[in-house]
Amino acid sequence: MNAKVNISNRAGASFPVRRMNFDFDQVPEYWAKDSAGITHFMTALSALFPDGEKLFIDSVRAVRYHPAIKDNEALQKEISAFIGQEAMHTHEHAGFNASAQKYGHDVAKYERETGKVIQGARKWFARVVRPFGMTQEMVDLTATTALEHFTATLASQLLLNKHIQELMTDPTMSYMWYWHAVEENEHKAVAYDVYEEIFGRGVKSYALRNTALVMAMALIFVTQSSFVIRLLKEDGKLNLKELGMIYKYAYSPSKGVITGMTREMLAYFKPGFHPNDLDTVALLEKWKAKLGI
Ligand SMILES: [Fe+2]
Ligand SMILES: [Fe+2]
Repeated sequence: MNAKVNISNRAGASFPVRRMNFDFDQVPEYWAKDSAGITHFMTALSALFPDGEKLFIDSVRAVRYHPAIKDNEALQKEISAFIGQEAMHTHEHAGFNASAQKYGHDVAKYERETGKVIQGARKWFARVVRPFGMTQEMVDLTATTALEHFTATLASQLLLNKHIQELMTDPTMSYMWYWHAVEENEHKAVAYDVYEEIFGRGVKSYALRNTALVMAMALIFVTQSSFVIRLLKEDGKLNLKELGMIYKYAYSPSKGVITGMTREMLAYFKPGFHPNDLDTVALLEKWKAKLGI
């Protein structure tokens, strides 16, 4: 595994910010079980992160001094650590994405397209809900709570699903994904708590967060799938064998990483839902020890 770790908890939050420094130079072209399909499934996800995580950071920053939370010291510390973790994820994913250049993939192009999808969707959605008294800040923050639920759920699948772990064969790449997965679970409640503190648990806030989840999932599915297909095409590997590997890895009913997320994803629609209802404390302890973080 090629990475240096530097852990700091200056914010005094319930979780630290870890400065990572991965070296992707030795990562093979098809780092996941020699499969172009699975590798590009993950590359396509990675392409979503820089602009996605920028939205997370911007949406929380935009409201962090709202009167409802500005004097909440504990939450302010969590927000600082949340921003620190997400910024570090973006840094490392952008580093990996740039390293794919040597195998002929301009992943930055996919990052820019992700940015356009996000900007278009958030502005359109805000226009639609404006007559109901909902603001751009509220839309952005609830898009973040929805996407944070998605990343935390995907993360717990990566940490729990042995079948997937067997396919993550390169030590540097698997370490990067597990580190990111641990941190997504550590900070999974921050954006949600900010949203509830500011916008409450009323019908309006409940309806908006559910609508945002459905929209966000549809957009992720379409965007990420189109990236996978184009990445495979760029390699001349858009064929049934690779698509079959993706099906097994992501969508097969018994072992798929995406199908495995169903129950936890649906929990978001419960009226009294809170991200910490899904207890991952023991799982995180085990993985932090395993990764030495
Ligand atoms: Fe992240
Ligand atoms: Fe996150």
